[in-house]
Amino acid sequence: PAAETKERTQADKPIKRVGVIGAGQMGNGIAHAVALGGFDVALNDLSKEKYDAAMETIEKNLERQVGSGKITEEEKEKAKGRITFAESYSDFSDADLVIEAATEEETVKRKIFVALCPYLKPEAIVSTNTSSISITRLAAATDRPERFIGLHFMNPVPVMELVEVIRGIATEDVTFGRAKEFITGLGKTIAVSEDFPAFMVNRILLPMINEAVYTLYEGVGSVDAIDTAMRLGAHHPMGPLQLADFIGLDTCLSIMQVLYEGLADSKYRPCPLLVKYVEAGWLGRKSNRGFYDYR
Ligand code: CAA
Repeated sequence: PAAETKERTQADKPIKRVGVIGAGQMGNGIAHAVALGGFDVALNDLSKEKYDAAMETIEKNLERQVGSGKITEEEKEKAKGRITFAESYSDFSDADLVIEAATEEETVKRKIFVALCPYLKPEAIVSTNTSSISITRLAAATDRPERFIGLHFMNPVPVMELVEVIRGIATEDVTFGRAKEFITGLGKTIAVSEDFPAFMVNRILLPMINEAVYTLYEGVGSVDAIDTAMRLGAHHPMGPLQLADFIGLDTCLSIMQVLYEGLADSKYRPCPLLVKYVEAGWLGRKSNRGFYDYR
């Protein structure tokens, strides 16, 4: 078709090089999926040690995929070879897209965008993997709200097929089009969400998890009974309390707070037991203790 053969302008070019900020649970999963999709990835975190730890996780997860025949040994090696360490944001000067997957705190994310933008090509797209913060508000911290977009990957990124795509008020059509083409190129499916607190997946999923915590808090059932009920009774791959531990109880709480404050409805009130666990430092798998004991 004519539209496809038409020469694409600089600002409409397909994405080839990707920067990822944050090598934690989400960041390393995103780097993994993006590299496997055939894109070059520059992965940044505060230290080389964090990058090295992320590469170990990526190696292990790629190996799982080789083990189950999803990818070949050669594809694994090629994907690993596409990932490099970005020591500073100046290493993103040739990136077509930067995906921010740092801590889920608005002030942290805003600081990153302010520091990052001066190093980028004018046509580069900036995106965030935030699971709940307003895209329009984060876009305002950049020099390019029209080339800013929310790309919300799900955990574990190499396995989950969905990416929520969220436009801010200023996001241009061409940015949306390039981002959509990129995500499709990863073999993932997009679901478009308007810029409302927690978007779609977490707006639906987190109140369910919060309700599971209330169910425990009110003594309706034990941890095991609640999770068994939802696994076998609703065919969920994980019970809601097991999933809460997997996501991180601090993240669960912060998403509930965003819903509660952003939508001003008491139905989103975080369960006091969830608050208490977070205050105790029982954050789930990452701290070896949550609703389950991983020690
Ligand atoms: N990387 C690569 N492969 C992985 C992986 C990873 N990190 N984690 C699991 N896998 C693979 C396994 O190797 C296995 O592959 P095969 O089937 O080919 O053998 C497959 O995934 C299934 O894994 P397991 O057999 O170990 O265990 P499982 O069947 O319980 O599946 C799971 C694990 C995919 C995590 C599944 O339990 C699940 O889907 N859980 C729900 C996850 C979910 O709801 N995620 C969304 C969280 S919300 C979110 O992310 C949004 C937010 O902002 C908070």
